Order: sequence, then structure tokens, then C-alpha cells
Amino acid sequence: MSNNLLKGKKGIIFGALNEHSIAWKVAERAHEEGAEFILTNAPVAIRMGELDELAKKTNSDVIPADATSIEDLEKLFDAATRKFGKIDFILHSIGMSLNVRKGIHYTENNYEYYMKGMDISAISFHKVMKVAMQKDVMNEWGSVLALSYIAAQRVFPNYNDMSNAKALLESIARNFGYHYGVNKKVRVNTISQSPTATTAGSGVKGFDAFINYAEDMSPLGNASALACADYCISLFSDLTKYVTMQNLFHDGGFSNVGVSQKVMDKFM
Ligand SMILES: NC(=O)c1ccc[n+]([C@@H]2O[C@H](COP(=O)([O-])OP(=O)(O)OC[C@H]3O[C@@H](n4cnc5c(N)ncnc54)[C@H](O)[C@@H]3O)[C@@H](O)[C@H]2O)c1
Repeated sequence: MSNNLLKGKKGIIFGALNEHSIAWKVAERAHEEGAEFILTNAPVAIRMGELDELAKKTNSDVIPADATSIEDLEKLFDAATRKFGKIDFILHSIGMSLNVRKGIHYTENNYEYYMKGMDISAISFHKVMKVAMQKDVMNEWGSVLALSYIAAQRVFPNYNDMSNAKALLESIARNFGYHYGVNKKVRVNTISQSPTATTAGSGVKGFDAFINYAEDMSPLGNASALACADYCISLFSDLTKYVTMQNLFHDGGFSNVGVSQKVMDKFM
């Protein structure tokens, strides 16, 4: 259903890998709501080929960029400026931990992997905004969003070093959000999403138990990737102009529940 919430708006969407990706759903919804955008991902992800299908469907260009590379980001924003002039929204939907991928326990983390994970999953958000600000690519009242998880605040043992990356990501949103607000009237937020069955999500050990537990704990149940996309659209729209520097829980109520009856019943 379209309400033309993003009519005339231009943007960049990072992180659509396949149809399960949260960014994929955001791109589909943004297109329905009248936005135009560039799709970008790491070169290795683009070589997998699935992004072309989304590009065709949403009438978008695909531009490869490793989000940790300032040079790639500069080229990406230059291309966006050539195509659109200034832009109105950016989605950072990027996460990867080599310690998670290689099954290395949190207490035994490999620091080369740890630094790489921080760079990809958190510091890249700073890099994206630094280059965007230097090149003055955003329109006033633009909106920048990244995706987080409640492991930034609470312990979920198997989430490993991604917990630290998400804490840093949320802190970057607050701090950069201050400066971007003062200097350019651009808002910056993170959405803390329910566990969602995507490539990145399913990489976490014991993900099935994890997602079922969250489902039983949340009064509304887990929020789907599509519901997350709807929330992103609202935050890119002009209806949320004064929301900034926030970590916004989109989790069916999970974050405010101590224990649910459904979970209690399993122990009775
Ligand atoms: N799936 C969940 O349970 C869940 C819950 C809360 C938050 N999130 C967050 O949502 C975001 C999107 O993840 P997803 O679940 O849609 O999984 P996904 O695997 O579909 O997306 C992750 C994306 O990150 C991209 N990426 C990795 N390294 C990159 C790099 N160097 N440069 C540019 N892109 C790179 C991947 O190619 C991929 O497209 C992530 O930040 C993730 O942590 C996911």
C-alpha cells in the first residue's frame, strides 16, 4: 500500500544482499512510496548477482562500495550527487563479525577479526556520515538510519562481539546526530530490530532458539523485516522531522518485558 510518503525523496540504501535482507524490504517499500535511490553493497556481495533483480524492480542503479573504504564512499556519494543532486535519506544496513562466522567464543576473540567486525558493523557508519557531511550531500531535514540489536544493552551470549559493535553503532548515531543536527539539520537514529531470519541473523549460533524465545517474550511477537521496512519509511518521511539521536526499539515490546506468561508457562 502506498501513501507517497517519500515522493520526490532521493537516497542511498546500503546492505541489500537477497530478498530476506532488511535493506531489500526497505528498498521495495521506499520504491512503493515514491522514492528514488542508489543501491550499494560490498563488491563481493554484488558479484553474487541477486541485487540486479532488486535494481530492475525499483528502477535503481547499483554502485559497489566497501563501507569501510573512504575512497569507495567518496566515489559512491559523487555518483549520487551526479544523479540526484542532494539526497534525503541513507540506510546503513550492514553487519558482519568474523568471530561469529568462525565460531570463536567471545572470551577467546581474535582481535584482528574483532577490529574488522567493528570497522564493518559500526565505524563504517561514522565513515558514511563523515563523507556525506564533507561532501554536503544531504538536504536539510534529511534522515540517516542504521540497524541495531538489543544486545547493545543486554547480554545475549552468542551474539559475541557484535554486541560491542552495536553499542558503538548506537553511540555513533547519538554523537554524529548531535553534530549533523547542529550543522545541517540532518537527523540520525538507530532502529533496534527483533531477531529476523536473514543471512546475517541466521549466522548467530542457536538463532532458532533465539528467535522463538523473543517471539514468546514479545507481547506483539517478533517484528518482521517488512514491518521494520515500514518503520524505516516513517523515519525517512517528513512525519518524523524532530526525531534524532535515538535508539528506537522495533521489537514487539520485547525490550520492556521482564518475563512473559508464555515463557513462565514453560517453567511451570
Ligand atoms: N537479522 C537480525 O536478526 C537483525 C536484528 C537486528 C539488527 N539487525 C541488523 O540489520 C542489518 C542488516 O542485516 P540483515 O539481517 O538484513 O542481514 P543481511 O546479511 O541481509 O545484511 C547484511 C549486509 O551487510 C553487508 N556488508 C557486509 N560487509 C560489508 C561491507 N564491508 N561493506 C558494505 N556492506 C557490507 C552484506 O553484504 C549484507 O548485505 C545489520 O546491521 C544487522 O546487524 C539484524
